[in-house]
Amino acid sequence: MTRLPTLFYATAAICALIGMAWGIQMSASHNHLLAPAHGHLNLIGFVAMAIFGTYYALSPQAAETRLAGAHYALSLAAVVLLVPGIALAITERTEVLAQIGSLVALLAMLLFAYIVLRHGVGAASSPRATTPRATPAE
Ligand code: HEM
Ligand code: HEM
Repeated sequence: MTRLPTLFYATAAICALIGMAWGIQMSASHNHLLAPAHGHLNLIGFVAMAIFGTYYALSPQAAETRLAGAHYALSLAAVVLLVPGIALAITERTEVLAQIGSLVALLAMLLFAYIVLRHGVGAASSPRATTPRATPAE
């Protein structure tokens, strides 16, 4: 049993909670200026993270690899850099953080594509899976 799906799902839920609270605050204040930052906290932080968590829950061999851990770290870094980066870009302070965050988000997705192609989807789909075939009992 791997911890990685739990980590992805827990992160997704935390991002959704913050993103929804932010959405309510925007609605209540009638100030939608930072809507794209709110949107991407929910979309990258909640939607994408939850999809990644589902993949790793379905594909335990992939979840046990170091690359999968690196994928979690990169995905988290993407949210942490991109969301404030978008807010800073909208308020015309700097675009650098949004640019770095975008590249990290792209890298995280590239790594995900590699992991999916390398391990496939499903418990027994990994080319490296060496589960011995069950021998007939008796
Ligand atoms: C309590 C829940 C939520 C509230 C109160 C809320 C509120 C808002 C508000 C007020 C806006 C600005 C709308 C506008 O100016 O036209 C907005 C935009 C947006 N929200 Fe939410 N939201 C919530 C949850 C979510 C979730 C769960 C997602 C995605 C999974 C999401 C994705 C978006 C997107 C993509 C935008 C548009 C961003 C853009 O204009 O670039 N929101 N939301
Ligand atoms: C590298 C990552 C990403 C970057 C740099 C990025 C960038 C952008 C930008 C610049 C906008 C226009 C914002 C505006 O004009 O208000 C936008 C809008 C949007 N993006 Fe992203 N995005 C990224 C990833 C994603 C992902 C992963 C999703 C969905 C899961 C997504 C869904 C959306 C949606 C729904 C909108 C709003 C469109 C609208 O309001 O009409 N984006 N994004």
